[in-house]
Amino acid sequence: MTGEGIGFGKAILFNEHFVVYGVPAVVSAIDKYTIARVEPSSKGFTFEDNRKATPKYKEEKSEQQKDSLNRIFKTMNLETSKKSIKITLDGNLYAASGIGASAASCVAIARALSEHFNLNLSNEEINKIAYEGEKGYHGTPSGIDNTASTFGGLIWFKKDETNTIERITIPTPIEIVIGNTGKVADTTAAVAGVKERKEKNAEKYQRIFERAENIAFLARRALQDEDYVEIGKLMTENHKLLQQIEVSSRELDFTVDIARDNGALGAKLTGGGLGGNMIALTPGKDLQEQVANAIEKEGFQVLKTAIGVTREG
Ligand code: MEV
Repeated sequence: MTGEGIGFGKAILFNEHFVVYGVPAVVSAIDKYTIARVEPSSKGFTFEDNRKATPKYKEEKSEQQKDSLNRIFKTMNLETSKKSIKITLDGNLYAASGIGASAASCVAIARALSEHFNLNLSNEEINKIAYEGEKGYHGTPSGIDNTASTFGGLIWFKKDETNTIERITIPTPIEIVIGNTGKVADTTAAVAGVKERKEKNAEKYQRIFERAENIAFLARRALQDEDYVEIGKLMTENHKLLQQIEVSSRELDFTVDIARDNGALGAKLTGGGLGGNMIALTPGKDLQEQVANAIEKEGFQVLKTAIGVTREG
């Protein structure tokens, strides 16, 4: 029997990095996903990654991917059974830094294994397994990526003992543009850098973290009120905070500026930073097209999608 499962890509709208320290964050799944297939293999454990990817992404992540797979098998008690299967990754989510490619693969694999071995796991169980798998890529993930990738939709996420996961319902999906800097980034290194600087500059970082927390609450209200101008303003301010904790990059700042100069209501880096992807708020197809074209003209790949659409379970 072939098992199959999907995991959504995601875009963090507010508070990547801050979320690692318990500051609330807002994340949206996007309508692109990774599919994993599990089938019997007579050649021992085989793994085939057919996802389209940023150049060097697969090479640079290959050790982390092995570690992640082992963690998933261990968590699911499938270390022996793995010898008799082949796993294939595919789907329309481009594998790149910042849009949840690692989380989407962990969720998709956990779901496909669950189906193949008839485990009938719930979304909550899949999310827990994917979180363990994410440790292979992130070291100490907050859990926000696997949560968005498992459940889909727009989510308020706060890391605490049990993790607060609440749906944010918006009446109409909002168009966004995601721009890819083409640079593969290492989330573990980005998170470690923030930790080191936070310890060295405790007072400065405390002020930044307090503002990030305020932004989360203001953003949640603005999303519920469909106040696009306010959401955009808060996203741009959030980008400034991310610059202050030194996780942005020249390409990220450049693409954020292009987006804003071309009418985006707000823009920021999304995900771990130091490369990877940025996101621009562009309500309406015309504005989305305009901003996407401007970013593309500068030689960056874009993805036109929306927040508040996809939902699982
Ligand atoms: C990565 O997509 C988001 C980070 O906040 C790390 C994490 O939350 O695990 C940078």
